[in-house]
Amino acid sequence: MTVSPSRGVAVAGLAVALPPLVVTNADLEARLDTSDAWITERSGIRERRIGGSTGDLAAEAGALALAESGLRPDDINLLILATETPDALMPSTAAAVAGSLGLTCGSFDLNAACAGFVYGIAIASQLVVGGIDRVLLIGADTMSSITDQAERTTAVLFADGAAALVLEATTDPGAGVLGWESGTDGSLRGILYCEHGETIKMQGPEVFKKAVRVVTSSCQHALEVAKVTAADIDLFVPHQANLRIIDAAARRLDIAEDRWAVVVDTTGNTSAASIPLALARARDEGRLRDGSLLLLSGFGAGMTWASAVVRWAGRPTP
Ligand code: ACO
Repeated sequence: MTVSPSRGVAVAGLAVALPPLVVTNADLEARLDTSDAWITERSGIRERRIGGSTGDLAAEAGALALAESGLRPDDINLLILATETPDALMPSTAAAVAGSLGLTCGSFDLNAACAGFVYGIAIASQLVVGGIDRVLLIGADTMSSITDQAERTTAVLFADGAAALVLEATTDPGAGVLGWESGTDGSLRGILYCEHGETIKMQGPEVFKKAVRVVTSSCQHALEVAKVTAADIDLFVPHQANLRIIDAAARRLDIAEDRWAVVVDTTGNTSAASIPLALARARDEGRLRDGSLLLLSGFGAGMTWASAVVRWAGRPTP
């Protein structure tokens, strides 16, 4: 393990895994007292993917990201799996994913609800800068497994998916996380929660209002820590819960729509997977380039939140 104060973090692989079953708003209209117009107008969601287990989706995304990086399982020094829907209480789902991928490095699950991916990239980046060479970071959730499919207020929003990043050290200290901040307001636990063996309980309008405030202030704080402004941001990549939350927060931050990364329209709310899924879509659309300055922001049950300013760097040239 090399410790160097002059290291940055590059992304050697980025891949996604989504269940094959597409559930459209029309499908939901057929079995719930809802409508395509209501769902689209209130959330921006048109369709979502449902099915699979958190471990299987995470392993699929992880294998694809590893393949893209050209690395072998032995090259990975740590696996972090951000999820709030682990397949079992123990062992961790990360251990099962490590087994599937042939990894023998350390592994752990990280639960910060829908903010989990931002906590994950902040922690992983600190570890890489501190001397760990490569981290496989996966965000994966099967929110349908804890959603009452007969309850229209949540069934139309939550869905399943995974996305994985291979993070590795680069000699450019300007690459990777330039600043981040996180916070929790445990007094708001009651507005969004899921007890063992039960399904999600949510006070939607309360979550909405708090989310807009929290994303705005958290992003402002992260921008200050990174010593940049919203005008410097190339791509705003917020948690994909609801297009109206993204819109309201982005307006307060003065970030115009052409700088938002959005994927909620086709994935629904996939919790810890949502930000890396949005990153992957932006990459596929040619909107994510070496040197792009990103503002990531996650919020969710707790309430807990985290935002990070990231200078994107692809694989360093050997
Ligand atoms: N279809 C049709 N009507 C519906 C539906 C539905 N699926 N759901 C609720 N309604 C009705 C309500 O019953 C209500 O009817 P009423 O006026 O007769 O009482 C009406 O629509 C308006 O309901 P509201 O809840 O006030 O609607 P709102 O505009 O707030 O939108 C929504 C609801 C989409 C849930 C919104 O509040 C929201 O997105 N909140 C944030 C949710 C969120 O982001 N959760 C995830 C956080 S991340 C994590 O950690 C998991």
